[in-house]
Amino acid sequence: MTALTISTSSAATLRADAVVIGVAKGEKGPVVAPGAEAVDKAFDGKLAAVLETLGASGGEGEVTKLHAPSGLKAPVVLAVGLGEAPAKGDGFDTETLRRAAGSAARALSGSKKGAFALPVTSAEDAGAVAEGALLGAYAFNTYRSNGNGKAGSKKNDKKAPLAEVALLGGKSRDKAFKAAMERASALAAEVHRARDLINTPSNDLTPKSFAAATQAAAKEFGLKAEVMDEKALTKGGYGGLMGVGQGSANPPRLVRLAWTHPKAKKTVALVGKGITYDSGGISLKPAGHNETMKCDMSGAAAVFATVVAAARLGLQVNVTGWLALAENMPSGTATRPGDVLSMYGGKTVEVLNTDAEGRLVLADAITRACEEKPDALVDVATLTGAMVLALGNRTFGIMANDDAYRTAIHEIADEVGEQSWPMPMPAELRKGMDSPVADIANMGERMGGGLVAGLFLKEFVADGITWAHLDIAGPAFHEGAPYGYTPKGGTGSSVRTLLRLVERTAAGDLA
Ligand code: BES
Ligand code: MN
Ligand code: ZN
Repeated sequence: MTALTISTSSAATLRADAVVIGVAKGEKGPVVAPGAEAVDKAFDGKLAAVLETLGASGGEGEVTKLHAPSGLKAPVVLAVGLGEAPAKGDGFDTETLRRAAGSAARALSGSKKGAFALPVTSAEDAGAVAEGALLGAYAFNTYRSNGNGKAGSKKNDKKAPLAEVALLGGKSRDKAFKAAMERASALAAEVHRARDLINTPSNDLTPKSFAAATQAAAKEFGLKAEVMDEKALTKGGYGGLMGVGQGSANPPRLVRLAWTHPKAKKTVALVGKGITYDSGGISLKPAGHNETMKCDMSGAAAVFATVVAAARLGLQVNVTGWLALAENMPSGTATRPGDVLSMYGGKTVEVLNTDAEGRLVLADAITRACEEKPDALVDVATLTGAMVLALGNRTFGIMANDDAYRTAIHEIADEVGEQSWPMPMPAELRKGMDSPVADIANMGERMGGGLVAGLFLKEFVADGITWAHLDIAGPAFHEGAPYGYTPKGGTGSSVRTLLRLVERTAAGDLA
């Protein structure tokens, strides 16, 4: 993992492979952002003009590398675009800083040390720069042979991520600043954990190996991990998890991963969909829809990462993570369309489509989690293609049984720089799931499929429990070109929102 260091020396004297500065879009061309004064001075105050000559506009995500003049210790100046310059007196917003730092860090892959001299005016800004840079400094090279992509390797067509992020302009002795740095490091490490798990192919990441990873982390960070294997699940009556997993050679697991604080006043339960591979089962997905389905455990990965982040930061709140792990495969032992499953808690479900498996494993885990009467329960899942059709690839949907809670989560997501949108739960869609043989069917009307899935989950939430559902099917896995701090592949979507939600709960300003 990339190191984060704080430097009080000037951008001119710091030894680094590159100094990162900001450039904004001004009315008459690019303008150098605050924080880069020493660098501009080394250019005789003509940095903006030099950038303009090179065609830089200051547009968001634009990266311009310049040979550094004498007077700077670093050999390279990397100017990253910040978009429109804010009105006088206003600073750049935190997500702009996060993304710019991420773009710069990505452009510096293969380098040892980048010195970030971006415009920061508060501990929050500094935290955003640190977070963006660390999140941008990510690569998944585990499966490349010959050390390709590994730091120090001679084969470097796939470069190792930037090894050190040195932050300039912060107040290293300031309490808020220090806390922001610690938070950024913990958060980035955990987002990377989620990304690594998501990117790990399903032949290596099975319910069993995923569960083992939670046990290892529990040991390292002082958490309690309890794993139910297929025997325990069968005995306990977990028909959803067993029904989805019964076609696979890799049997299901239910993990309970708990961070507890002796002074906690509240308990949040986080439930994650952990389908390590979703083939669709007997309702097999067609070609073109299964190539990325190793990502179908992104919800469980986000929950895992958030619980560990809470532990790393010692948050004064109890966080219980429930990871519903199974592999959805077709075989002679698989659940058939038309089969009826008896879920944990006794409700029965007619499985009309074995590809609607996420709601089945979640139903068991939600019912189980509710037994502990948490103050709030949030489930996270790559649940429906319908949500992707509705909101696109970068925005997750939020549903809830409490409007205020849904709004609060939407605002939290906004604050941490994750795109989300509140979705309704229209009551009339429930009857489409009426089954002629069981309590409910796992499919309803095609229209509004994401909302139908949410209504299904709602049936399994115990009365009196505040509940929200995040459908991250769109943003969990990024297939396009990297941008900002977002890499190709697993993104770690929702970890930042969940962590802030848990922090807010600890502070007592959320259910
Ligand atoms: N894992 C998929 C949803 C998904 C789609 C995730 C695209 C990420 C990207 C889920 O299990 C699924 O197959 N849902 C079905 C439900 C349908 C059969 C009711 C869907 O959305 O088509
Ligand atoms: Mn599916
Ligand atoms: Zn799925």
